[in-house]
Amino acid sequence: MRNVQLNNLTQVAGDSFGGLDNERLRLLVQQLVVVLHGYAKDVRLTHEEWRGALAFLHRCADISSDERSEFSLLSDVLGLSSLVDLMAGREGATPGSVLGPFHTVGSPWLDNPANLIGANAGTPVVYQGTVCDLEGQPLPLATLDYWQNAANGLYWQVDPQQPRDNLRCQLKVDAHGGFEIATIRPVPYEIPTDGPVWNDLVQPAKRSSWRAAHAHVIVSAPAHSTLVTELFDAEDPYLDNDAVFGVRLPLIGQFSRTRDPALCQRHGIEGDTCLLMKVDLRLAPLPDHPAPV
Ligand code: BEZ
Ligand code: FE
Repeated sequence: MRNVQLNNLTQVAGDSFGGLDNERLRLLVQQLVVVLHGYAKDVRLTHEEWRGALAFLHRCADISSDERSEFSLLSDVLGLSSLVDLMAGREGATPGSVLGPFHTVGSPWLDNPANLIGANAGTPVVYQGTVCDLEGQPLPLATLDYWQNAANGLYWQVDPQQPRDNLRCQLKVDAHGGFEIATIRPVPYEIPTDGPVWNDLVQPAKRSSWRAAHAHVIVSAPAHSTLVTELFDAEDPYLDNDAVFGVRLPLIGQFSRTRDPALCQRHGIEGDTCLLMKVDLRLAPLPDHPAPV
């Protein structure tokens, strides 16, 4: 095309990717061109703004490493991560929520009931739950991958004071789909505030840097869609302004002081009452066909 104009550029640039063999990738890229061009036209993007945006992306790249992705944080604070989670949700199933940067594969397998308290400071709590299908039938072959932060707000990967694999585990549910995890109450913590996402974007918008306290869980079961989600605490002060839009009503549970001497004894919790949250996790069956685009 030797006469590229404002009125044909989008078409020409989109068509130039027509050689991508992978049909889905072709769609993703061509539609990205359409949407990016549309955005630039809508806001009448200037050279200065375009250069500023590229410089911002460079700063994101500069601070990223194998251990840290500023781009993933950018996706989180723009709500894109939550959008993808919500679009993947299925009617009747437990909603998904952000994976975050602190999941690592290969957590230790623990027996169910599990106890993660160890030498951790903090308030002992117990999550007791079941994994069911959409009809409420237990899924006895389900597994859980669980992780959370310590009482100082940090995950073990970024805190040399914590032992490896602190406060994370995998476990199998019992024959009734049940699980029990004794742990410490997760606490709120801040998203990274030393990079361009915070300094150039989130802080100038006068937004909160805090994530509402949560535990992460990935729930898998044969023939069912894997659920990546979070469990929130009804008493947390940041539920209404979580920095990454991860909170959904069905994911908020209440830690209720419960008298259960056997439960306390099982987990070495002093006294005969403890803070217990009941959790109901529902998985959708794997879709027969991919959802339409
Ligand atoms: C987290 O949940 O661990 C997390 C999510 C997004 C940004 C930072 C942390
Ligand atoms: Fe987290």
